[in-house]
Amino acid sequence: MQIFKTKSDLSSSLSSLADSLIGFVPTMGALHNGHLELLRQAKKQCSVVVCSIFVNPTQFSNKEDINSYPNTLSDDITKLEKINCDVLYVPDVSDLYTIDEKTKHFNLNGLDNVMEGKFRKGHFDGVATIIEKFFNIIKPHKAYFGQKDLQQILVVKSLTKQLNLPIEIVSVPTIRKENGLAMSSRNKLLSPKHLETASMLYKSLEFCKANKGKFSITNLKNCIKIQFSEQLEVDLEYLEFVDANNLQNISFFQENNNAICIAAYLGGVRLIDNIIF
Ligand code: PAF
Repeated sequence: MQIFKTKSDLSSSLSSLADSLIGFVPTMGALHNGHLELLRQAKKQCSVVVCSIFVNPTQFSNKEDINSYPNTLSDDITKLEKINCDVLYVPDVSDLYTIDEKTKHFNLNGLDNVMEGKFRKGHFDGVATIIEKFFNIIKPHKAYFGQKDLQQILVVKSLTKQLNLPIEIVSVPTIRKENGLAMSSRNKLLSPKHLETASMLYKSLEFCKANKGKFSITNLKNCIKIQFSEQLEVDLEYLEFVDANNLQNISFFQENNNAICIAAYLGGVRLIDNIIF
């Protein structure tokens, strides 16, 4: 695997691969099986796979959150080599941002006003800012994102369309632990006890799906809220029933494209999950 620290070295190396189908997997490191699944898909579908590891400052509004983000670079490199990733881009902040550079503002068609966008102000402008930079440097044919971050996928699709970039955005199903907990780098920050309790996010989503013919969305929401209020160590931030294509709230289940999205804090760690059916 070739490792590049600067965009100039990376792009001059990639420019010699004119005939290759380039797959791109952007990450913030602390790689887990969910990331490896993105890389496996990319390896299957592309001739050159580029992974980036970069903890993007503009998408964090909370300094503590960015400072506590796990950093496991040497383990990450071992995992990437094992999976035969071709290229790793691991830049410093100064390679991608000038001093005092401001986050760009994007028109994300309201996708950034709900759920994650509502509770993490400016988050998606930060994501779009860095993804636009990556896409311009790497010029991938396909880019891979995990379904756990459903809202991020829709934001990136909208961005790609607005910028008229010929990049296919591939959504890869969420990989889960045995107890249902979605793989996330933040799981590393959970105690063994909280790792068990955290499975209630997915269990709640599955409960709603299983009972969609039996209860109304309002009743399901109330039921889950009560379950969470009984668990003192878990703070439910939101539970939304939306159309998976545009994230608009739904009052009734549709034939398909229903998404239930959840965010909760456990021991100070913020977790999100969703299911689509
Ligand atoms: O999902 C992530 O890890 C990040 O939001 C991404 C896509 C790497 C952009 O910084």
